[in-house]
Amino acid sequence: MSSPSWTLLCFLVLAFSARASPVRQDLGSSLFAHVNHAKSSRAEQSVSTAVQNITDAGMFNAANATKELKSVMAKYANADKVLAGIGLHPDTHPEQGYPKFSPPSLSNLRVSNGAPNGFSPALPDTPSFNTTTDPSESADGIIGVPPVGPEPGVTVHMPLTDYNSGSMDILYYGPMQFGSGGTSMQIDVDTGSADLWVPVDCKGCQNKMFQTSSSTTYTSSSTHKCKITYGTGQISGTLAQDSVAIGPVNIPRQTFCAAHKVSDDFDEEPSDGLLGLAFGSIAQSGAPTWFENLLEEKKLAASVFSVHLTRGKAKGSEVCFGCFDPTKTMGPVMWNPVISRTYWSIAMDGLSVNGTQSPPANLTAAVDTGTSLIYLPDSVASDFYSLIPGSAPAVQYGAGFYTFPCDTALSVSLVLGGQAYAIHPSDFNLGRTDEDSSDCVGGILALGNGFPTDLAIVGDEFLKSWYSVFDYAGRVGFAPSVNNR
Ligand SMILES: *[C@@H]1O[C@H](CO)[C@@H](O)[C@H](O)[C@H]1NC(C)=O
Ligand SMILES: *[C@@H]1O[C@H](CO)[C@@H](O)[C@H](O)[C@H]1NC(C)=O
Ligand SMILES: *[C@@H]1O[C@H](CO)[C@@H](O)[C@H](O)[C@H]1NC(C)=O
Ligand SMILES: *[C@@H]1O[C@H](CO)[C@@H](O)[C@H](O)[C@H]1NC(C)=O
Ligand SMILES: *[C@@H]1O[C@H](CO)[C@@H](O)[C@H](O)[C@H]1NC(C)=O
Repeated sequence: MSSPSWTLLCFLVLAFSARASPVRQDLGSSLFAHVNHAKSSRAEQSVSTAVQNITDAGMFNAANATKELKSVMAKYANADKVLAGIGLHPDTHPEQGYPKFSPPSLSNLRVSNGAPNGFSPALPDTPSFNTTTDPSESADGIIGVPPVGPEPGVTVHMPLTDYNSGSMDILYYGPMQFGSGGTSMQIDVDTGSADLWVPVDCKGCQNKMFQTSSSTTYTSSSTHKCKITYGTGQISGTLAQDSVAIGPVNIPRQTFCAAHKVSDDFDEEPSDGLLGLAFGSIAQSGAPTWFENLLEEKKLAASVFSVHLTRGKAKGSEVCFGCFDPTKTMGPVMWNPVISRTYWSIAMDGLSVNGTQSPPANLTAAVDTGTSLIYLPDSVASDFYSLIPGSAPAVQYGAGFYTFPCDTALSVSLVLGGQAYAIHPSDFNLGRTDEDSSDCVGGILALGNGFPTDLAIVGDEFLKSWYSVFDYAGRVGFAPSVNNR
C-alpha cells in the first residue's frame, strides 16, 4: 500500500462519509399497499408450482453452507471500517471519459407482454416478456440483437462454469490467461472483493499453479507481501505483475497476489484463483483491479460489466465486460445508486413475504457474486422469518440458520431502493433438514453479533433471478433473468 498523507486520508474519509449518506426513497405504506395490491393470481400459481417441485428437491448440505457462513464473516470482518471510509485507497474513477451507459432497447427483441412461464421475478406491474426461443440453448436462437455495448469498442465475454452441489450453486469461475505464455487459469469471479490472486510456487497446493517459468514478463516483489483471510483459512504470498488477459484483451502489467500458501479449503474448489471485481479502493494490494485497468486504458465499449448466473446448470453463465447481453434478460433494467465505492453497495429497505413487508430496515447491501447465499443482521433476519409461520432458528447447524415448513408456498423478495425484487423459491429453499422432515432450511442467514447492524450481503441466490449490471458511473442494475422463464 502506498502511504497516503494525513491530508489525503482525511479527505478520503470525508469524501466517503459524504457518499455514505444515501438519499433513500421513503417507502411509506404506499409501496407495501402497492405490492400487496399488485399480486396476480397467475404469479401465485407459478410460485406454488415451483414450491411443489422443490419439496422433492433433497437434503440440506450443512457442510457447504456453514463453510460459507464462516467465510463471509471473515470476508466482511472489516466492513464497518470500509463503509465508514477508513483505510481506503484513492478511487481512481477509471470510468471518466466514457459516455453514460444505457442498456440496449428491448424493442428489438421478439417479445410480448405475456407472463413468462413459471416464476415471475419482478414486481407484477413490471413488464415481463416471453420469447419464442431459448437464446441460451443455441447461437442461432439469439433473439434479434447480439450482445452489444452502447458504443463501438471492445466487449469481452468470460464464460463461467457453475460449480453446484445439492441445491447450492457454490461458485462461478471461468478462464483467464496469465503471462507471456498465456497460461489458462480457472478464476472465481467475486464482486465482493478487489484483489486478484493465483497460486505460484505453492507448496502443497492441489489446484493448478501459474508456472511463471513459462512467462518472460513475470516480475515479483519479495518485500510486498499479500495475505487474504477467508473463513477457515487464508492465502498468502507476494505481490507480482504480469500480463493478464481474456482472449485478445490484455493488461500487460496487472498486479496480483502470487499465492505461495493456500489453505486446504481451496483444494475442494474447482477454481485455481480469484478475480476481485469490487472497487480498487478496498484492494489489499492497493492496486487497481483488472477491470479498472481495462477502463483506464479505454479498452472497452462501456464502463460496465454484466453478470448472468445459471441455476444448477454447469454451462451458460457469463460475465460480459464492457457490455450488456439482452438475450439473458426478460425485462428492463432497474437501477440502484452505489452508496460507497468500495463494495458494490446499494440501499436495502427490508424484505417481503407474499407482499407483506418486514419492519423497515435501513441497510447497506453488498452485491456479491462470490457469495452463494444472502446474509442479514440478526434482528433483520429474525423479523423476516417471523413473517413465515412455523419458521424457527435451526440451532443444530449453529447460529445464523433458520428452518421453515417445506410445504409453505412463499414469495420472498428483497426491497431495494423502494422496489421489491423476488427470489426464486428454489433458490431460497436449501433443502430438507432430514429425508423425512417437513422442515427446510432457508437461504437467508443471520450474520451474528459483532457484525455491522446495517450490512446485508446479497449473493448468487438473488443474482440467479436477476441479471446484474455493475456500472462504474456508480450504480447497480437488475433485469429479470432468463432463468425465470
Ligand atoms: C414442476 O414439475 C412439473 C412436473 O414434473 C413440471 O411440468 C413443471 O414444469 C415444474 N415446474 C417448475 C416451476 O419447475
Ligand atoms: C460441498 O459439499 C460436498 C458434499 O458434502 C462436498 O463434496 C464438497 O467438497 C463441498 N464443497 C465445498 C466447496 O466445500
Ligand atoms: C407470449 O405469451 C402470450 C400469452 O401466453 C401468447 O399469446 C403469445 O403468443 C406469446 N408471444 C410470443 C412471441 O411467444
Ligand atoms: C439510515 O442510515 C443512515 C446512515 O447509516 C442514516 O444517516 C439515516 O438517518 C438512516 N435513516 C433512517 C430512516 O433510519
Ligand atoms: C403465501 O401465499 C401462498 C399462495 O397464496 C399461500 O399458500 C401461503 O400460505 C402464503 N405464505 C405465507 C407465509 O403467507
